[in-house]
Amino acid sequence: MTGKSKQEHGGKPRKAAAPRKARKPRGGGAAGKARPIRERVFSGVQPTGNLHLGNYLGAIKRFVELQESHECIYCVVDMHAITVWQDPEALTRNTREVTAAFIAAGIDPDKQIVFNQSQVSGHAELAWIFSCVARLGWLNRMTQFKEKAGKSRENASVGLYAYPNLMAADILLYRATHVPVGEDQKQHLELARDIAQKFNTDFAESCARAGFEGGFFPLPEPLIAGPATRVMSLRDGTKKMSKSDPSDLARINMTDDADAIAKKIRKARTDPDPLPSEPAGLEGRPEAENLVGIFAALSGTSPEDVLATHGGSQFSDFKKELIALAIAEIGPIGAEMQRLMSDPAEIDRILCRGAARARQIADPNMRTVKDIVGFVVE
Ligand code: TYM
Repeated sequence: MTGKSKQEHGGKPRKAAAPRKARKPRGGGAAGKARPIRERVFSGVQPTGNLHLGNYLGAIKRFVELQESHECIYCVVDMHAITVWQDPEALTRNTREVTAAFIAAGIDPDKQIVFNQSQVSGHAELAWIFSCVARLGWLNRMTQFKEKAGKSRENASVGLYAYPNLMAADILLYRATHVPVGEDQKQHLELARDIAQKFNTDFAESCARAGFEGGFFPLPEPLIAGPATRVMSLRDGTKKMSKSDPSDLARINMTDDADAIAKKIRKARTDPDPLPSEPAGLEGRPEAENLVGIFAALSGTSPEDVLATHGGSQFSDFKKELIALAIAEIGPIGAEMQRLMSDPAEIDRILCRGAARARQIADPNMRTVKDIVGFVVE
């Protein structure tokens, strides 16, 4: 998609714009000059229950690493969650649980911004503008909508369909440049880049008038790296580990205790052969590949290193070491999550403080976007 012209995307061809009264550049920038965009990380997790090892290794663990080098904004995306039915009490509890997971995993809410999406109205406002920028054809290609809506598309909420526009708004409201996510979010990130690009092109002149030569939005980079960008089900190595898998044995929950973790890994499906000594030998062995990837991610190494050490081992021995690693990393996080969850008022205070800080970035950006679009602003 990226790189096609606006007409190919189905956008209205641009007519020569009638000259508008020059507006004062906002944000202190001089009109006509490209301004450098500072690096900023944004990512989100849905509060839909059963946070699992895939969420941790594919996303949250990376969030923690990035806070050492970047300004980070981490969001509990409650507005995304309601694209499918959520029981209100469970939604509140799950919002607090994701917040607790962020903090228990090591995100510092005093240094970084941690908040829930619905407390910052700019997400919804920008999502609407993006719904008018994105093309139906783009959304029609989204595989996650097809998977989630299944056969009963007519019954899916409009929000589920428009979800990627809201996701683009989440990121771009903060003009974020880097987005750590698991592999399953790659297509949504590509769409966010397309939306940013189309907005910058459609509104090129008024962006420049507002002091943003070259466009207002950065094209956000997905950060999808490491050995666990797609953690698979422990019961079926061809299926993604997911919050909604009916079998609890398919995933390790971030709140599982040591016994549950040990039991699930012991029962994890494998094949009868010993481990190969090189990654090429994992071809056609999805369960083995998955356990090796998890091992590598938990030990901070690579599948090559894991197989160099464990090549030739039986799964029974390999699993013993994997259990020890998983308990050492997930066990304390789960225990800390439980402790934090026992004081919901404190979690709510953290979210409120985070939302106030998020608004300090979002509000001026939203004002500039409105100005660029041509809305009359105060
Ligand atoms: P969500 O809530 O489904 O998942 C949160 C994060 O966990 C990653 N993930 C996985 N990684 C590896 N293996 C798995 N099996 C696995 N399952 C989930 C996801 O890729 C994600 O990074 N649309 C997003 C939430 C979102 C968002 C955003 C993300 C909303 N707005 C803006 C980034 C930026 C979602 O549904 O994630």
